[in-house]
Amino acid sequence: MNNREKILDLLQKSSEEWLSGEYISNILGISRTAVWKNINTLKDTGYQIESSSKLGHKLISSKNVLSTAELEKILTTDTLGREIVFFNETDSTNVQAFSIATKGASHGTVVISESQSMGKGRLQRKWYTDPGKGLAVSMILRPVIEPIYAPRLTLVTAVALSEVLDEIGLNTYEIKWPNDILIKGKKAAGILSEMKADIDRVDFVIIGFGININTVTDLLPHEIKDIACSLMEELGFEISRTEFLATFLKKFEESYNEFLSGNFAGILEKWIEKSKILNKKIKVTILDRELYGTVRSVNDDGNLILETGEGLKTINSGDINYI
Ligand code: BTN
Repeated sequence: MNNREKILDLLQKSSEEWLSGEYISNILGISRTAVWKNINTLKDTGYQIESSSKLGHKLISSKNVLSTAELEKILTTDTLGREIVFFNETDSTNVQAFSIATKGASHGTVVISESQSMGKGRLQRKWYTDPGKGLAVSMILRPVIEPIYAPRLTLVTAVALSEVLDEIGLNTYEIKWPNDILIKGKKAAGILSEMKADIDRVDFVIIGFGININTVTDLLPHEIKDIACSLMEELGFEISRTEFLATFLKKFEESYNEFLSGNFAGILEKWIEKSKILNKKIKVTILDRELYGTVRSVNDDGNLILETGEGLKTINSGDINYI
């Protein structure tokens, strides 16, 4: 344990009592300044610690903390998240996950970061992660499947996310094709799946998702603040990011096993229901082309079957707008 972990341990063991800076510095054999600096770092990572010049320090709550230790305490999965790689800051959790998967990281490894300097979105877009408030997570999966089935895992992810939202009582969301979660038309979450495969066999799939949990959208960079939303703003109260992630990993693992055992139809059915997309009139923008039509179905790969003036068309990428 480093000094910060030792201080945290002391605070957790005496959560009802104040611990003076002098007491901590004596027990650990470090200076009062070192105690004070470490306490400030703990506060920055989300621990709610009350400090008083007379009484010392007292741990009030660990609710906002996202850490491997806090996650491991409540995780109930078999394999998913049993290896965790945690960063306070990195370029992109998908990039890191891809890199460690290439070096052999095991199935179920989860990469988490408090912030990303180059968070990636779909179609070369950027994804902003709000430190201390959002979640940026990438999972390394090694399904024994043919590459053509891998896109289905994006749908499995969207359904698992939506099930967590159902569980926390948020029912105003919808899944927006191909991989967003919107609340009242604003984006709360996005999914980015990547893969390394041979022609007939998947090596690994990286599923990354970002979600605004306790984000205050007014404080977001100006280019996204009007199009983003957060779970907290919709619900009116804060959500524990650790609990959200633990619940998500459990639900994802269950659906993933269902998918592997060949029952994708049930998952697709849930996706379609939660997207409310059937029979909607939409405009699809594919690069610089626009297409109008009515969604008649969603196929097993998550592609839209669109009825257009020129017959049925299968849409497998692009952006959609409801019209
Ligand atoms: C999109 O909306 O276009 C997809 C956004 C995906 C963002 C997540 S955050 C965690 C993971 N790491 C990344 O760099 N991107 C994904």
